[in-house]
Amino acid sequence: METIQGLRRTHRCTEVTTAEVGTQVTLMGWAQRRRDLGGVIFVDLRDRSGIIQIVFSSEINEQTFLKAEQIRNEFVLAAVGTVVLRDPEAVNAKIKTGEIEVKITELRILSKSETPPFAIEEHSDVNEATRLKYRYLDLRRPDMQQAMVLRHKVTKLARDFFDQNDFLEIETPMLTKSTPEGARDYLVPSRVQPGKFFALPQSPQLYKQLLMLSGFDRYVQIVKCFRDEDLRADRQPEFTQIDLEMSFVNVDDVLELNEQLMKKIFKETLDVEIQTPFLRLPYQEAMDRFGSDKPDLRFGLELKNLSDIVENCGFKVFADVVKNGGSVRAINAKGCADKFSRRDLDSMVDFVKIYRAKGMAWIIVTENELKSPITKFLSEDEVQAILDRTHAEVGDIIMFVADKNEVVYDSLGNLRLEIARRLDLLKKDEFNLLWVTEFPLLEYDADEKRYVAKHHMFTSPMDEDLALLDTDPAKIRAKAYDIVLNGVEIGGGSIRIFNTDLQQKIFDIVGFSKEQAALQFGFLLEAFKFGAPPHGGMAYGLDRLVMLLTGKDSIRDVIAFPKVQNASELMMQSPSEVELKQLKELHIRTEL
Ligand code: AMO
Ligand code: AMP
Repeated sequence: METIQGLRRTHRCTEVTTAEVGTQVTLMGWAQRRRDLGGVIFVDLRDRSGIIQIVFSSEINEQTFLKAEQIRNEFVLAAVGTVVLRDPEAVNAKIKTGEIEVKITELRILSKSETPPFAIEEHSDVNEATRLKYRYLDLRRPDMQQAMVLRHKVTKLARDFFDQNDFLEIETPMLTKSTPEGARDYLVPSRVQPGKFFALPQSPQLYKQLLMLSGFDRYVQIVKCFRDEDLRADRQPEFTQIDLEMSFVNVDDVLELNEQLMKKIFKETLDVEIQTPFLRLPYQEAMDRFGSDKPDLRFGLELKNLSDIVENCGFKVFADVVKNGGSVRAINAKGCADKFSRRDLDSMVDFVKIYRAKGMAWIIVTENELKSPITKFLSEDEVQAILDRTHAEVGDIIMFVADKNEVVYDSLGNLRLEIARRLDLLKKDEFNLLWVTEFPLLEYDADEKRYVAKHHMFTSPMDEDLALLDTDPAKIRAKAYDIVLNGVEIGGGSIRIFNTDLQQKIFDIVGFSKEQAALQFGFLLEAFKFGAPPHGGMAYGLDRLVMLLTGKDSIRDVIAFPKVQNASELMMQSPSEVELKQLKELHIRTEL
């Protein structure tokens, strides 16, 4: 067994440059690849910084050369040698150290490696389950290393930014009480208090509000949050927030400060200039124009409401929907008449059905005629009005959905994205940031037959809408906002209620009894009695932000040790069974 006794690493692989030519260096890293050309052996030595070519030959050192024949992929080596310029024909412009190589005089084989289950390289063709089972190997791949580096940079930039703006980083407990973000809690049993449980925080929401009550004024924390919800590409059971809260602020104060943070992150990680202020799109406008509260504005394809045109038309489906309070809306797929075949259109009809639409009518505008299954039911005036409203020209296809508003938004909002995907309009190096503001305060939950808070129960109504509390709660808009990047909600927050009476009123509206409120949030209501400052804040999903900055499609690719679909971790294989003794101590019996 060889060690590094007496050796000290002088450089990371790519820190060696032409300036070091003629000097001796000591390198340590992994053998990426070995090429044996008979009298000469070349090895690509890899570490976190990248790759450098090291060379062995009997002319340089006979013994070392013989030893180098043992090297296999992923062996860990220490190598001492002299930096030389490569012959001009051997220069490799693709790598940073392509002009040089190191002639090795001393080699130590520190660790051997079995043949890895997949090649350690950027585009290695391997399924995700294998990657995750051998995550430590997967993380050796250069794109994964770069993702971790970028994640580190974003975290550091955020910390520095908030520090420069007088925020204090204060930690809040992980063993806590159920929080109000609305997902299922992860529970931790108490050993000393049989039958009682901690909840892992879904967010530090209540603590950060209490910190404002304590007078800290500006709080930030880069913090793990836990939510037991169904996984998706942008959802993990444990994820990280950049969480902040500020006192004595209005919506604009929070948004303006955070625009500066985004500007800084984009500039210093990707060298991309982001224009401020970002567009601020009220929720209702976002829904009406894009069918989504997180619209992707890298492309157009806006929705148009045609309800007024077709409310008395001869196509019964359309007329009935409007009469029943729904709407008829359409997207004009510009210039798509020669891009989408009838088969494509049929597949789009199937696509909108995923979102509960009952059908999708269309009009293809050609030079001589309109092709459509529905124009025969419409008057000439109605058709003309539709063409005008959708700005239709020769070569366009207009696609319609008629249904309850909710279904129309959902199906056309998703169809809009689907068309963009098919037309390849979603460019990963283009970044569109906006705020969606003025969210509804409450949503009606038809199953539970009551209002529920759309963001959370501590979100303040807009001052303009306070009067609606007693008359029409569904219409109240909140001082709530989301930040959206390329169609992904990367963060959200609100200005909070800081008045006990108003808070009580909201509890009443959502059907939260005084007793329930006291039991769950008594401490907060109590705290509000001792001088609460106006306050508000937001939280970013750090994983989602880094996913978009690195051009990845899943947050799993920017989390070192993520979980898979069934919320398990494939490498350590958690969750797992525990010893009966442990369960007994916790007063827990499982029933399977
Ligand atoms: P919210 O619940 O909107 O707000 O969460 C803030 C942001 O966190 C990210 N996020 C997630 N990322 C990965 N996996 C998940 N399961 C997941 N859930 C949420 C999203 C989201 O925008 N306390 C409030 C913030 C506040 O009001 O200040 C909160 O947690 O990007
Ligand atoms: P039908 O009369 O059911 O054959 O439908 C005629 C056309 O209208 C077909 O292209 C259907 O896809 C379309 N269609 C049916 N229901 C709807 C709806 N709710 N919204 C939009 N188009 C619809």
